[in-house]
Amino acid sequence: MIKNLVLVGCGHMGRAMLAPWLTGKAAQKIWVVEPEGASLRDKPVTLCTNAGGLPKDLNPEAIVFALRPQVIEQELPDYKRFSGSLFLSIAAGKKLETYQRHLGTEARVIRAMPNLAAKVHEAVVVMAAGAKATSPDRTVAEVLFSPLGKGYWLDNENLMDAATAVSGCGPAYFYLLADALAKGGEGIGFSRELAESLARQTLIGAAAFAKEDPHSVEELYQSVAVKGGMTEAALKVLQNNEVLQKLMENALKAALEQGRKLSS
Ligand SMILES: NC(=O)c1ccc[n+]([C@@H]2O[C@H](COP(=O)([O-])OP(=O)(O)OC[C@H]3O[C@@H](n4cnc5c(N)ncnc54)[C@H](OP(=O)(O)O)[C@@H]3O)[C@@H](O)[C@H]2O)c1
Repeated sequence: MIKNLVLVGCGHMGRAMLAPWLTGKAAQKIWVVEPEGASLRDKPVTLCTNAGGLPKDLNPEAIVFALRPQVIEQELPDYKRFSGSLFLSIAAGKKLETYQRHLGTEARVIRAMPNLAAKVHEAVVVMAAGAKATSPDRTVAEVLFSPLGKGYWLDNENLMDAATAVSGCGPAYFYLLADALAKGGEGIGFSRELAESLARQTLIGAAAFAKEDPHSVEELYQSVAVKGGMTEAALKVLQNNEVLQKLMENALKAALEQGRKLSS
């Protein structure tokens, strides 16, 4: 078990990790660095308003940054003194090189990118380890990020943008499909309200079923499409000329291209 764990930034994502860390006893002692920590006063954590409030002789095994990307670079130099710690971050778009630059080339760094579903502990969490991170460090990352959802390692950090295009943006694609289903339902006779409810609960039920059933998603949709049935008739239209497949490939390329523009 970790003796001392530091969480820097305790907003939406910080809180999504902290509560399960506390119930799961992820560490003997958790230090939280947060400028406005009023809502954390009743929690069994030690609060500091800034890095300077952490004791000089503290030697935390891990420091997790859940800060906004806009502020993280100005904060990192204050943590360089914890040279024996594993540094982990969920800040979007900040590359491993950024952390090494501020924390030192020997720093053990792991970055992770969760998606929106982290707030309900069902995110995809893609992770990339810096050159100095060890195998035990990866295990620590898996344990600490597990409250956010399911973790997947990327061998190559450059795939982080591709992962963002697939799983980071992914929830929006499913909502778009559910919205199209709702609008389609309205078109064949339902009120807007009922069509939305049917589409939303179908999305929730399909996700819950996929969580329990180990078959591939291709097998899952094929299993619903009984020969000569209504689902098969609808799928034939949706899969006509692979239009949907090609649209998705183009959408992912557009997301990647935008990611490149944003980071250049
Ligand atoms: N939200 C998502 O769905 C999502 C998904 C993937 C990745 N992420 C990444 O997760 C990170 C955190 O996102 P979030 O949604 O949790 O943001 P957030 O709710 O704004 O949380 C950031 C927290 O950090 C605090 N803070 C600001 N300056 C600080 C400092 N110098 N030291 C310590 N704490 C400080 C903020 O306090 P104040 O509010 O008082 O400034 C706030 O409580 C971001 O980098 C984001 O890219 C978020």
